[in-house]
Amino acid sequence: MPAYSPGFRSLDAERDGLELAVEGEIPAWLSGSLVRNGPAMFEVGGRRVEHWFDGLAMLHKFRFADGDVVYSNRFLRTDAYRKAVEEGTLSNQFATSGGYLERLRSFVGKPTDNANVNVARLDGEYVALTETPRRVRFDPETLSARGDLAYEDDLAGHHVTAHLQHDREAGETVGYMTEFGRRNRYHVYGVPDDRPERVPLASVEVDRPAYLHSFALTPRHVVLVEPPYVVNPLRFLLPGGGGFVDHFEWRPERGTRFLVFDRSSGERVAEPRTNPFFFFHTVNAFESDDGVVVDLVAYDDAAIVDDLFMAAVEGGSGASRDAEPFPNAAEGVLARFRVPLDGGEVERRTTYRGLELPRVAPAARTRPYRYAYGQATGRRGGNGLAKVDVETGESREWWGEAKYAGEPIFVPDPETEGTSDEDRGVVLAPVLDVETERSMLLVLDGETFAERGRAHVPHHIPFGFHGEFFPEVTS
Ligand SMILES: [Fe+2]
Repeated sequence: MPAYSPGFRSLDAERDGLELAVEGEIPAWLSGSLVRNGPAMFEVGGRRVEHWFDGLAMLHKFRFADGDVVYSNRFLRTDAYRKAVEEGTLSNQFATSGGYLERLRSFVGKPTDNANVNVARLDGEYVALTETPRRVRFDPETLSARGDLAYEDDLAGHHVTAHLQHDREAGETVGYMTEFGRRNRYHVYGVPDDRPERVPLASVEVDRPAYLHSFALTPRHVVLVEPPYVVNPLRFLLPGGGGFVDHFEWRPERGTRFLVFDRSSGERVAEPRTNPFFFFHTVNAFESDDGVVVDLVAYDDAAIVDDLFMAAVEGGSGASRDAEPFPNAAEGVLARFRVPLDGGEVERRTTYRGLELPRVAPAARTRPYRYAYGQATGRRGGNGLAKVDVETGESREWWGEAKYAGEPIFVPDPETEGTSDEDRGVVLAPVLDVETERSMLLVLDGETFAERGRAHVPHHIPFGFHGEFFPEVTS
């Protein structure tokens, strides 16, 4: 068993308002709640899920007040969860297959609600998100699931992003989805802050839709970055094994395309192709003199998807690189792309090697900025954290013996509101110690990246994905 295996071990315990032991000092100004999402049950009906992305969703909440930290966690009690617990069956997901009929249903009308990827605030509701069109509302105080969030529109899509982007200035949340069928289309939409409706912004028809996980947003543009990891959707309907992602193929000859849309007109203003790369996460984007600048975490190819199958992370077959797979799966590279709008070539520059789960300060989104934060993956035997200067490539890092850190989230010191102090604040990240098999919430100083404190959780937290800090959630 690999040393990091507690990260893929199911967690049974659910806590409600547990005060955590704090070491060091957590700033008293830090007020509100960090809510994180991720899989926490990896066996259903005596069978292991096939991919890390397919475990059952659990929410974890760290509430901060006066230097104290209170922890709660709860499985998201969805239809998928009930079916798993009561019937021992899994509904169709990312890579874990149901039968033929199950798969057909999942694309036609009954997608899974196992929303284990991210959380967001949308139209005043708190929602858990995944890549099917089902958004599960939850109570931020108790973490109880409250059923689906429905939109008052008839926009159709089958695969959606769990990385919606809120634009405070425009007063809308932007997202996209892919519609599979006889015609395949990407639809970009905006949800106004004041009503639960997706207003169509742009659509584009494609022959082979790509697997898209996140996108780039600037004040004037939406950029869909389309890697050549594509599917013939008719394959979803063929009998035989496989979940959603098993049908995608790496077609490097297509290159990676940047589809740039004007946000006000919906017009496609550029679509340059460049050398093939794969990615899950954009970091940030902004306007430049001749186009847009997009920072993202790039991979040479889509082998990373295979690297995260359970068989691979547990040291079996399937890892693409070497004998110790996760976290030494394919290496994510922080790269900057200059995407011109005048028909010129895309330029690429590497900023930092060995990064995933990137974040920026909320005030830095969609504008020129200085710092990206992420999980550092460049060493063996652990995952660290990195703060990268995206201009110079210089970094500050945090590492710990046998420690596996997850997504770091920057929370600004409220006194910096309206100033240019981009990194004045704290960075919050979950860290699993695989020796003690316990997790903690680490608090780093945003400027120096030195540890300010840590709050100990009395059990392990399985490796998760994304979260959000909600300053208004104070109970
Ligand atoms: Fe993600």
